[in-house]
Amino acid sequence: MIYHDSQHRLWVLSGPSSSYVLHLDEADRPRVMHWGPRLTPEQAASLLLRLPRPGFRPVEDPLEGSFDLIATGGMCYGQAGLQVRFADGTRDLELVFTGQRRTDRELVLAYADRHYPLTVECHYRLYGDVIERHLVLRNEGEPVTVARADSATWVLPRMNGYRLGSVRGQWGAETRLHRTELPYGETVLTSRRGVTSHQANPWAMVDDGTAGEEHGAVYSCALAWSGSWRLTAQRLPTERVTLSAGAGHDPVTWELGTGEEHVTPVCAGLFTEGGFGAASRAWHDHQLRHVLPHAGEVRPVLYNSWEATGFDVSMDGQIRLAESAARMGVELFVVDDGWFGARTHDAAGLGDWYPNPHRFPDGLGPLIDRVHELGMRFGLWVEPEMVNPDSDLYRAHPDWVIHRPHRRRTEHRNQLVLDLSRPEVGDWLFRTLDELLAKNAIDFLKWDMNRPFTEAGPDERLWLGHVRTLYDVLDRLRAAHPHVRIESCSSGGGRVDLGILRRTDQVWTSDNTDALDRLDIQHGFSQLYPARVMGAWVTDSPNPFTGREIPLDFRFHVAMAGVLAIGGALTEWSRADLDRAAELVADYKRIRPLVQHGRQYRLLPPGGELSAVQYLAADGGEAAVLVHRRGRRFGHPDPGIPLRALDPDGRYRDTATGEVHHGAVLLTHGLFPDLAPGDYASALLHLVRE
Ligand code: DGJ
Repeated sequence: MIYHDSQHRLWVLSGPSSSYVLHLDEADRPRVMHWGPRLTPEQAASLLLRLPRPGFRPVEDPLEGSFDLIATGGMCYGQAGLQVRFADGTRDLELVFTGQRRTDRELVLAYADRHYPLTVECHYRLYGDVIERHLVLRNEGEPVTVARADSATWVLPRMNGYRLGSVRGQWGAETRLHRTELPYGETVLTSRRGVTSHQANPWAMVDDGTAGEEHGAVYSCALAWSGSWRLTAQRLPTERVTLSAGAGHDPVTWELGTGEEHVTPVCAGLFTEGGFGAASRAWHDHQLRHVLPHAGEVRPVLYNSWEATGFDVSMDGQIRLAESAARMGVELFVVDDGWFGARTHDAAGLGDWYPNPHRFPDGLGPLIDRVHELGMRFGLWVEPEMVNPDSDLYRAHPDWVIHRPHRRRTEHRNQLVLDLSRPEVGDWLFRTLDELLAKNAIDFLKWDMNRPFTEAGPDERLWLGHVRTLYDVLDRLRAAHPHVRIESCSSGGGRVDLGILRRTDQVWTSDNTDALDRLDIQHGFSQLYPARVMGAWVTDSPNPFTGREIPLDFRFHVAMAGVLAIGGALTEWSRADLDRAAELVADYKRIRPLVQHGRQYRLLPPGGELSAVQYLAADGGEAAVLVHRRGRRFGHPDPGIPLRALDPDGRYRDTATGEVHHGAVLLTHGLFPDLAPGDYASALLHLVRE
């Protein structure tokens, strides 16, 4: 609900348990009076009586760091979310409030520069306690250079301390959670790569340093953008803290021409109580309700051929894998890289999206038919934003790639990036994929993107335009082929964000499929993103990436924490492993609704001897718990693992053993899973309320 108190120029944006209170001061600056537990409009208005006195330091603006739109100009010396340069070189903005538009859930506050014909609209939209914000800039004057247009600046209240939570990573080591005291000054999380990145992910959480998994207030924000981005966490010496996030990175600027409009992507903010667990559950819930296109669907168990075959793709080989996968209970069979053009290795073929005539002389039809006959859906890998110089596409259009005159075209994995900001490239991309989907009964695309931009040059046309075309093509393909589902991949988890999740159905989390490493990657992933989108494969042992040997059950029990998939060389698995895998797939299908659509409780984080995660049905009637023991030290017995959010008066039956547990005992003394002795022991427990 959004209230407006016109007399006090006050707005109160309230979700079920939080409020965001804005006040326009005499200088028309939108001051954040409150972001935290819910307040009534009357309580919110009383905050105006408590405005701080100017204090003893006349050289400082006592309100610095308390506005949710900060434009360069005047005595603003901190991080400014809005930075422009007018044609005459003026960099100061003088914004005047020009009006508001408002419904129960949406608010637009409009401003215009006092002199130059530039307007700025701040949009707010409420989804429960999540506030989605973006800016709209319109220029009616001479071209304006935009250096920064952050979607939102979030102003945090004064707390006793500030701890910044985020994820860091690399290829094969994405989304590793990192919490550290927020230093004074500016901490920048960013991607300058043209894609969301493995190195950082566009979200941040701040608590006062004392929050835990189950207690404490947490402020978080997440940017819905799949290109370069920057999130600045600023801590001023006055202890004011802001989080400001938007598309684009330093030093990229772009020109807003006469009569042009710039709409920023959305940045969502959320205040929660109940610790990091509650914050994550609220973010999961938001994505399941408002972000994902087909959130209510159950994601099928998938098989992907990449680790089994690499580029060595053949019709017979794929059919053998498909038959084995179908026997195991797989529901969607995905042929990865190596099926098209001259793509028998990574130096040729990207851009030529027709079946390799030697490998598939009759096209993909016979393979797709066989997969469908086996009762599975058919998926295909594509990397349509890329081109190998050794390809028909590049030979025909060498100017279609991102490049600059007088600079080398840096190749990475022998490939270059198509410049999607060129309209003819965007048209080609849509036509090519539209035709591929129209001619073949494809149910699923794995959409990969394996290299960052180079030689891009600092203009909007490319940095923002590439992502806008990508989104547009995805939207048009989905509309034209509504049954097709899409997985976002970028060398593993390089393109996971709320922007791509609005247009895809799941993501490939990491090329690292080692179950032990995955525990950490998945723990970090789950801080913001739901299990419903987290692709997790069971692959071979020893793991091809790390060489580590891990038993089959443990590998499955780790991958069951998301969208279970198989990615091993099944034709080399023993009969015993294939049979056991089929049982484990069946186990997963039983608990899948809880994992994919239930509420997630991280019971024990990875890192210790035991880790565990619980999923609870929305009605609380069923719970699944995955327990992993990486290694037992000193022969200590496993401790009990207290569960969460059960009814203390309820009784819960273990569906495997028939044993009945009291809710109150599970909540306090916990569950004692019957784990095998030794390292890499694991269990899945399924409890149903009696
Ligand atoms: C990178 C992806 O992350 C892998 O899963 C695989 O699809 C390869 N690309 C294929 O080139």
